[in-house]
Amino acid sequence: MSGAGRRARTVVLVSGGGSNLQAIIDRNAGGALGLELAGVLSDRPGVRALERAAAAGIPSMVVDFAEAGTREAFAQRLAVALDGLQPDIVVLAGFMRILAHDLVNRYLGRMLNVHPSLLPLYPGLDTYRRALAAGDAWHGSTVHFVTPDLDGGPAIVQYRVRIRTGDTADTLRERVQRGEHRVYPDAIGWLAKGRLGWRDSRAWLDGRPLAAPLQVDEPDGP
Ligand code: GAR
Repeated sequence: MSGAGRRARTVVLVSGGGSNLQAIIDRNAGGALGLELAGVLSDRPGVRALERAAAAGIPSMVVDFAEAGTREAFAQRLAVALDGLQPDIVVLAGFMRILAHDLVNRYLGRMLNVHPSLLPLYPGLDTYRRALAAGDAWHGSTVHFVTPDLDGGPAIVQYRVRIRTGDTADTLRERVQRGEHRVYPDAIGWLAKGRLGWRDSRAWLDGRPLAAPLQVDEPDGP
């Protein structure tokens, strides 16, 4: 994505706690991931992610969904805010709105998301409860390119946790997010440094198309 020495201008879209944003900020210390964190956009005011951005000195902006009134007005305002920041890379980090197709298409190959399931299992909401209710042996999270197909773009890396007896949505979420904080900054850094790319509607890593996402499993132990 970026040439030697130039950091990729990166905008992070958030809706809530921002623990993934924090992991990206921390891992990019000194520009280690190759990112210039150019802005944080939230669809809600008052969220913790905005405090995290402020603490890190990253400019932030709220494009308030409630205030916009309609889906179309929100999409329009978000597009103006995002395009105005001229990002090379757009990172969805707990952003809980469906993006307009034209916006997604404008950033195809440059927009990543992390979704809390082993896609293609459980696109959409409530993934922890659904995995537990199905009696699955594994759950986890997927980093993928964003396409107009909801939670359906090419997967890059999956973090997997084995579901334990007594797990609840909360205990699973805690362990899955710990993994997200590891694999998501990795993937964003690969994109920024040109190791990861998008060609022929597929994800490519180190010059080869990914036939399946990389897999990282939770280490054994408590
Ligand atoms: C993350 O765990 C992410 O997987 C999920 O929201 C959480 C946000 O946490 N994303 C989605 O559900 C997107 N469909 P954070 O705000 O602490 O990073």
